[in-house]
Amino acid sequence: MNIILLGPPGAGKGTQAQRLVERHGLKQLSTGDMLRAAVKAGTAVGLQAKAVMDAGELVSDDIVSALIGEELDAMSPDTGAIFDGYPRTAPQAASLASILSDRGRRLDHVIELDVDEDALVERITGRYTCATCGKGYHDRFERPAIEGTCDKCGGHEFKRRPDDNEATVRTRMAEYRAKTAPILPIYDAQGIVSHIDGMADMDTVTAAIEAIIA
Ligand code: AP5
Ligand code: MG
Repeated sequence: MNIILLGPPGAGKGTQAQRLVERHGLKQLSTGDMLRAAVKAGTAVGLQAKAVMDAGELVSDDIVSALIGEELDAMSPDTGAIFDGYPRTAPQAASLASILSDRGRRLDHVIELDVDEDALVERITGRYTCATCGKGYHDRFERPAIEGTCDKCGGHEFKRRPDDNEATVRTRMAEYRAKTAPILPIYDAQGIVSHIDGMADMDTVTAAIEAIIA
């Protein structure tokens, strides 16, 4: 199964992708995570991407499509993919179509998380992750059971993203409206789009996704 999770920053793409990985053994392909790893490692891609990401703008289509192709090549053909934060533009949607068909894969579902942008600013500015295993948390909505200790791996170090400030989030949202939302009709024409209320609590959103992919 191959699924795209679409939605503006803070919609819950990463949160729901992590749950699908745990429940269904799918692989999460987050171009944002790949780019952050490249920045951390100081690769050529990372050096090119850093300033663009810090500004909340989009990294070039060629870079992200190449990352996706490499990740799919490293996966077993039997493992399904959850595309989280990709594709984000019409050229990326076209690249994904050929990347998938070249590898004998097809898209099963495009799930859009419908959200209220103003409420998302609180979600994003309260977000943090475990520095060891990457599990996501939130100051108000998802705290570890024991304060300061990761529920999943027991780590004690946490981190926040440099682009999770209000000004950058507003730019990221504007980019979503201008460049990403317009790709939905491509998938609507294929009859594979479902819309979910992304403002519901996390478990309700998970249940709605489960119903779609069942
Ligand atoms: P990326 O990493 O993809 O960021 P994004 O799209 O801005 O999305 P986020 O990761 O901020 O949000 P999310 O939907 O994953 O929310 P989450 O589940 O964490 O991209 C970053 C940058 O990289 C881009 O700006 C761009 O520069 C570059 N980039 C990446 N991909 C690219 C591409 N394809 N092309 C070009 N450039 C690209 O949830 C947020 C918080 O809310 C969490 O704390 C969570 O606990 C909480 N939460 C989640 N769901 C709920 C809920 N239902 N109720 C309450 N709280 C919730
Ligand atoms: Mg994310």
